[in-house]
Amino acid sequence: MSLENCSIVNFPVIHDPRGNLTFIEGDNHIPFDIARVYYLYDVPGGAQRGGHAHKVLSQLIIAMSGSFDVHLDDGDQKRTFHLNRSYYGLYVCPMIWREIDNFSSGSVCLVLASHRYDESDYYRDHDEFQKVVKERQGDTLS
Ligand code: TYD
Repeated sequence: MSLENCSIVNFPVIHDPRGNLTFIEGDNHIPFDIARVYYLYDVPGGAQRGGHAHKVLSQLIIAMSGSFDVHLDDGDQKRTFHLNRSYYGLYVCPMIWREIDNFSSGSVCLVLASHRYDESDYYRDHDEFQKVVKERQGDTLS
């Protein structure tokens, strides 16, 4: 799993003078069935969220309101995505370290997840995450 597997996904937009509508179907617009939805809101200025990677969890991160930056790191490369629209999201595959910051005032970060919450699926120590990535790369090369 690498940063190349992570990308922006555009969702359908039904334009309407009464207000636009966007919909997301699990296993159709995103490459997994949705098992859980959670959202970050009332984020104080200067706060940082994330700071972890997941072993098997896939996620889709959407700026439902406002904007923020998502910094991704696959152990080799890093990339930052600025999310600021509710009709696209960022697909994050397993084994990617993520940090989210630069939240605008009143922003809401919606996350669609492939699995229910499971603390044992987390790497919360970057050194440990990096070590596992390097071990797997060693296994692939040998
Ligand atoms: P965490 O995933 O570290 O938040 P973030 O990545 O957004 O900074 O979770 C923060 C806390 O909330 C942690 O104690 C676990 C708990 N939590 C749940 O109980 N259920 C959930 O679905 C999520 C995402 C977190």
